[in-house]
Amino acid sequence: MASKFVTPTLTDQPTDGSLPILEGTLGPAAVDIQTLFARQGILAYDPGFRSTASCKSSITFVDGDNGVLLYRGYPIEELAQHSNFVEVAYLLMNGELPTPNQLRTFQNELLDFNLLHDQVMSFFRGFRRDAHPMAVMVGVVGALSAFYHDVIDLQNPADRHRAAIRLIAKMPMIAAASYTYSVGRPQRYPNNELDYSSNFLQMMFGRPNREHKVDPVLARAFDVILILHADHEQNASTSTVRMAASSGANPFACVAAGIASLWGPAHGGANEAVLKMLSEIGTVENIPKVIARAKDKSSSFRLMGFGHRVYKNFDPRSRVIQQQASQVLTHLGIDDPLLEIAMRLEEIATKDEYFVERKLYPNVDFYSGILLRAMGFPVNMFTAVFALARTAGWVSHWLELQSENHGIDRPRQLYVGSGKRSYPANK
Ligand code: CMC
Repeated sequence: MASKFVTPTLTDQPTDGSLPILEGTLGPAAVDIQTLFARQGILAYDPGFRSTASCKSSITFVDGDNGVLLYRGYPIEELAQHSNFVEVAYLLMNGELPTPNQLRTFQNELLDFNLLHDQVMSFFRGFRRDAHPMAVMVGVVGALSAFYHDVIDLQNPADRHRAAIRLIAKMPMIAAASYTYSVGRPQRYPNNELDYSSNFLQMMFGRPNREHKVDPVLARAFDVILILHADHEQNASTSTVRMAASSGANPFACVAAGIASLWGPAHGGANEAVLKMLSEIGTVENIPKVIARAKDKSSSFRLMGFGHRVYKNFDPRSRVIQQQASQVLTHLGIDDPLLEIAMRLEEIATKDEYFVERKLYPNVDFYSGILLRAMGFPVNMFTAVFALARTAGWVSHWLELQSENHGIDRPRQLYVGSGKRSYPANK
C-alpha cells in the first residue's frame, strides 16, 4: 500500500509544478510528464503501460470502447472491403492513399526487391527441420541485417525507404521458406505476374513438380487477413521495434526483435492457442467446463482469443474475419466442427457475467485460426502469417520514429531490491 498520494487536478492556468495536458486528434488526452522527474524528483510508475502513451503517432488509432480501428483515419472495415494489402501498406507508410501512378511505382519496388540473396537460403538449412517457423523468421530476418548494414544511412530518407521496401517485399519468401524447409520442399521463387497475396500462397503451397493455380477467393481472403493484421498502434511487438530502433539499430534487427515479441501466446501466438483450445474442447457439450476453468482464479487457464488490452466492447477485426471464415468454408465446402464450437463458445461466453463484467469479447485471433486452417495453413504458420502482415506496420512505425528525433528510449524503474551492503569479509 502506498504511504503518500498525489491527486492530479485539471486547471486552465499553469501553476507551480503543474504539468501540461497534450491533446491528440482523437482519443484521450495525455499528461506530459517529461519534466516530472527533473522538476519534482519523482518518477511515474506504470508497468505494462496501462496509462502511458509511449510516443506520439499519426499512423493508427484504436478506440477500444467503441470498437474502432482506423489506419491513417480510414476505418478498417472499409479498407478490408475496398482496398488491398499493398495499397494499405503504402497508406501506412506514407500517410495517404496512393494515386494509381504512386501505387504502380510502389508495387514495382516491391517486385524488384522480393527475392532473397541466395546465401540467405543457407541460413534456413542451418535450422533443425522441425524448428518453429517463428524461430526461423526471427533468425533469418535478423540475419538480413548482415546483408544490409553498411549500405543503410539512417539519416538518408531514400535509404530508409529502401530498407522498408526490402522488408515488406522479402517477408513473403522468408515466411514461406520457413515452412517449406520444415516439410522438405524446395523453396519456390516469387512470380512477378502475381499480386502480393497470391505470390505468397503459391510460394507456400506450390510444389516444384506441378503448376500451382491460386484460388482467387483464397487470395482475396488472405489479403483481407493481411489488411486486418497490418498495424495496431503501440502493441508489444511494435513498441519493441520502436524501442530497438530508438538506439539507431539496423532496421532488419529491429524487425527481428518485433517478430520475437509477436510470437508470445498473449500476442500473435494466440490464434495458434485458440485452435489448440477448440480442438481440446472437441464437442459443444464440453464448452461449460472450459468456461468454468477460464473463470476459476486458481487456474492460469484463459479463454484464448478472448479479451484485449484496448478493445473493451468488440474487436472490429473479429467481425470481418468471422465473415471471411464463413465465406471461405462455404466456398471450399468444408464443414469444420471447430467453427461451430467457436460460435457456440462466443455465444455462451459473451452472455456470461464474468466475461461481460470484465469486458472480454472475441478478438481477431478467435476466428483467424479457423480461416487459416481452412486455407490449408498448418497451425505453426499462423503467427508467421501475422508477422508477414505486421511487417507493414512495423516498418511504418520505424519510419515515423526515424523522421523524429526523440533520442533513445530508456525507461526508469522503481527499485525494490536490497539497499547498499558490503561484500562479506569472510566469503
Ligand atoms: N479468459 C479469462 N479471463 C480473462 C481473459 C481470458 N481470455 N482475459 C482477461 N481475463 C481476466 C483476467 O483474469 C482479469 O480478471 P480479474 O480482474 O478477476 O483478475 C481481467 O480479465 C483483466 O485481465 P488483464 O490480464 O488485466 O487484461 P489485459 O488487458 O492485461 O490482457 C490479454 C489482455 C489479451 C493479454 C488477455 O485478455 C488474454 O490473455 N487473452 C487471451 C490471449 C489472447 O487472446 N491474446 C490475443 C490478443 S489480440 C491479438 C493481438 O493484438 O496481439
